[in-house]
Amino acid sequence: MDSQNMIILVAMTTEHIIGQRGGLPWDIPEDLALFRRLTVGHTLVMGRKTFESIGRPLPQRTSIVVSRSMAPMEGMIVCPDFCSAVERACQGGGKVFFIGGREIYKQALPLAGRLSVSWIKKDYAGDCRFPPYRQSDWLIEQEWDYPEFRHIIYQRK
Ligand SMILES: NC(=O)c1ccc[n+]([C@@H]2O[C@H](COP(=O)([O-])OP(=O)(O)OC[C@H]3O[C@@H](n4cnc5c(N)ncnc54)[C@H](OP(=O)(O)O)[C@@H]3O)[C@@H](O)[C@H]2O)c1
Repeated sequence: MDSQNMIILVAMTTEHIIGQRGGLPWDIPEDLALFRRLTVGHTLVMGRKTFESIGRPLPQRTSIVVSRSMAPMEGMIVCPDFCSAVERACQGGGKVFFIGGREIYKQALPLAGRLSVSWIKKDYAGDCRFPPYRQSDWLIEQEWDYPEFRHIIYQRK
């Protein structure tokens, strides 16, 4: 698959905070609506903890959960390692969105050709950060401004 169709999708503060106590530190419906618009019809790859925080398979999308411990579940594909999850995701034909959390982002960073970030304008405390990455490797492709966040799509240089 073309790496341009392998996309990391994340919402983070300017301090790169992505999570707090297993969930999101903020409640921004407009960002969830954007998440839905971007991902419907495509494939999502997520870690087990992120799946548990969402709590259900998301409709109109193929959901792949990476987990060594999770039992198979209706409406989801569970893969025991990251490589098999990527292989399975690429069979879908559409785009592949890596939707977190930190562990999944870390493994997806070398593969993804696009980074789609909602930069949350307000500062929030959190206990989970996006993994370190070189911002200079990424070029801004598109951006939209919303009241509570700015969404920027970056392409790998
Ligand atoms: N702001 C955002 O856009 C955003 C998006 C998503 C998540 N989050 C936040 O991120 C936090 C969770 O992140 P996290 O890093 O703690 O957890 P995570 O990446 O969601 O899940 C980690 C789990 O995934 C499984 N896993 C990961 N890599 C694996 C591999 N190579 N092989 C097999 N299993 C693998 C393991 O599950 P098992 O233990 O079952 O083996 C591991 O414990 C939460 O606070 C969540 O709200 C934020």
